[in-house]
Amino acid sequence: MSRIIYSRLSPSRLLSNTLGSVGRGGRYLSTESNKIDESSKVEEAETVNTPPPLTEKLLVLGGNGFVGSHICKEALDRGFSVASLSRSGKSSIQESWANNVSWHQGDLLSGDSWKEALDGVTSVISCVGGFGSNSHMFKINGTANINAVNAAAEKGIRRFVYISASDFGVINYLIQGYYDGKRATEQELLTKFPYGHVILRPGFIYGTRRVGSMKLPLGVIGSPLEMVMQYTKSLNQVPVVGPLLTPPVDVKAVARVAVRGAVDPVFPPGIVDVYGIRRYSQQKAF
Ligand SMILES: NC(=O)c1ccc[n+]([C@@H]2O[C@H](COP(=O)([O-])OP(=O)(O)OC[C@H]3O[C@@H](n4cnc5c(N)ncnc54)[C@H](OP(=O)(O)O)[C@@H]3O)[C@@H](O)[C@H]2O)c1
Repeated sequence: MSRIIYSRLSPSRLLSNTLGSVGRGGRYLSTESNKIDESSKVEEAETVNTPPPLTEKLLVLGGNGFVGSHICKEALDRGFSVASLSRSGKSSIQESWANNVSWHQGDLLSGDSWKEALDGVTSVISCVGGFGSNSHMFKINGTANINAVNAAAEKGIRRFVYISASDFGVINYLIQGYYDGKRATEQELLTKFPYGHVILRPGFIYGTRRVGSMKLPLGVIGSPLEMVMQYTKSLNQVPVVGPLLTPPVDVKAVARVAVRGAVDPVFPPGIVDVYGIRRYSQQKAF
């Protein structure tokens, strides 16, 4: 478990900086990004080997999906208690770790009964999202998650991690509902969890995706692309087309940072882009 030492700012200054920067775009946490607010930059100075707090209970929304299942496994591997909520409930995954997840069935867009899954939960990680018509994309990426954010805030849950998505540049216009839904959820999180939001903005996520009984090894494409595209970061800043060069990221890296963001009390609230995800995932601290 890491300890982040705020070596440049006093806690009160940090608090006021964090508050001051919680706006439409939130606060960027990738130290490799030139969008970082230099005045609130933090330094990680010390690693202390303290055991993780095993009383944590994580609820993974969409825990039976591609990213969600990796997050459930990562959290269980670290000794946390894990529950999942999705419309189909129990995952079809035939691996032993899946037996250790409490599987809840519920639709975030319908009724209130799904809120029971939040009982006793300390942190929520939402992987709910997807594609379709513009109105469907807004509902699943926006409304469904906004419902979850509000219910979690009402229950006094401490942290909420949201798997959002990077800016896709010119493609945003083609998937407007997806992009607008993601940003609407982010905005709700900034309001309802000013100190407890962690927003991950990956581009393409690669890893092993299960489709029925088949396993699709997306890393065959994603891994070499990630290696090449890590050198295109400066081009990533070019307006409109630049965001298309966002490098892919390994699903295990996303899972690692999501779990850390959910349980590490000193993981700072904010928006973490793909470069931040890679950097945090490579730290030995957690
Ligand atoms: N995969 C990528 O390359 C990528 C890249 C950037 C961002 N992301 C984001 O990462 C997140 C996870 O992506 P993924 O690829 O893992 O997607 P996925 O496999 O389709 O998982 C989505 C999950 O959401 C659940 N879900 C959907 N609607 C729901 C509702 N109304 N109520 C409750 N649960 C619901 C689904 O389960 P049920 O169908 O059983 O409800 C499923 O478990 C998404 O938000 C996605 O936009 C993904």
